[in-house]
Amino acid sequence: MNQAKKLYLETFGCQMNVSDSEKIVALMKGIGYQRTDDPHHADLVLLNTCSIRATAEQRVYGHLGKFKSIKGGRPGLIIGVGGCVAQQEGEKLLKKAPFVNLVFGTHNLHLLQKMVTAAEEGRRSIETDFLDDEKRFDLFPLSDSEGGVTRFVTVMQGCDNFCAYCIVPHVRGREISRSAARVVEEVRALAAAGVTEVTLLGQNVNSYSCKTPGEPGFPDLLRLVAGVEGIERIRFTTSHPKDISPELIACFAEIPELAPHIHLPAQSGSDQVLRRMNRGYTRADYLAKVAALKDACPEIQITGDIIVGFPGEDEAAFQETLALMEEVQYADLFSFIYSARPGTKAADYADDATRAEKQGRLERLQAVQKKTTLARNRSLEGTVQRVLVEGLSSSGDCLFGRTGGNRGAIMDGDPSLAGRVLEVRITEGLQTILKGEILHV
Ligand code: SAH
Ligand code: SF4
Ligand code: F3S
Repeated sequence: MNQAKKLYLETFGCQMNVSDSEKIVALMKGIGYQRTDDPHHADLVLLNTCSIRATAEQRVYGHLGKFKSIKGGRPGLIIGVGGCVAQQEGEKLLKKAPFVNLVFGTHNLHLLQKMVTAAEEGRRSIETDFLDDEKRFDLFPLSDSEGGVTRFVTVMQGCDNFCAYCIVPHVRGREISRSAARVVEEVRALAAAGVTEVTLLGQNVNSYSCKTPGEPGFPDLLRLVAGVEGIERIRFTTSHPKDISPELIACFAEIPELAPHIHLPAQSGSDQVLRRMNRGYTRADYLAKVAALKDACPEIQITGDIIVGFPGEDEAAFQETLALMEEVQYADLFSFIYSARPGTKAADYADDATRAEKQGRLERLQAVQKKTTLARNRSLEGTVQRVLVEGLSSSGDCLFGRTGGNRGAIMDGDPSLAGRVLEVRITEGLQTILKGEILHV
């Protein structure tokens, strides 16, 4: 019997990369590679990388060092780097890291089988050209679900917003939407394979089809996907506040399958900072949309992203961010210290706050959010939530699932309940998790 070749794949960054990695697994399976968790036994190591902040990028180089030493004792090992760092660094990466066999950009997954085969024959290769064509969505086999009940479905890629701090438009290219028919086709195939929840994915998902006349808009796409037999719950991410339309807000009241959660990054609560970030909305616009979302769907859970220490942010501007958080009452918040990215507009802005000041702001902000998260989780005690059971919890001794609002919950129950949406009474709201009991199955 042929011994399967082994793939060790590590993924950094956002859901877009997680989704691309599922495709990579399926593509590599097609040329005889099975996944392993142990790089020491791998024949092929692939890193799917992220360059959103300098720390993310440094992590990639740290990992490459580790694989270089493994390759020292295992000379046949093929090492490939893909994703956003690969897109940005291109040839430089091959020069800096001579032990790397292949470099593939964010639009080049469809070439990966060919590139790995070339590496097996001793040839190095690099592919980082952008492919600005809808075809790039459908060049793959259906991604490898490995039995999950919840899956990502890409509906658009790229970003045209050019927020002043952000590398994404530079490494993911221009915005392009996939046809609604292909999206629905993929969702149908996933439902037939036992998937009950899909998350529609895009860098700026709510501007879906804005640039492709003739395709349905995002609210209609949500209706089409919600109508697929077997799909009990849909989500979407990430939304840009400037593109949240009244029609989309109404969907939260009108589409029962649409989960009551939205990730709506504000980035800052200060108009002066938002303008310099090139975000295209004001604090008042953002808060008005949040109020409309809460009106349409009172149980909606809002999560967000905030950048602290953007060039020009002073203490007063930071206080406005804290006040915005107070008003929104985020269920959860991802917060980051600004990191200058090469080639972005803000990289040239004068930046006068010290590292210690920025670190101090981040810690204050996170302390505020920690309290809000706990208070919100506690406020769910005694309520009945519809929880999609994803499977066993990481400790293996109970079930793990998510409420419609995307809060993690654990409860006792049989693993065969995976994939079901069940009514669960929340018995305890802790800092990072809810505990509950299944009411009936
Ligand atoms: N498309 C998404 C964001 C993707 S990046 C959106 O528009 O919201 C995820 C988050 O990383 C951003 O929301 C932002 O908060 C953060 N981020 C992006 N660039 C950054 C930078 N240069 N420094 C620090 N944080 C950054
Ligand atoms: Fe980056 Fe802004 Fe595009 Fe989001 S909308 S990916 S933050 S440029
Ligand atoms: Fe990172 Fe690229 Fe996503 S830079 S956040 S992996 S689009």
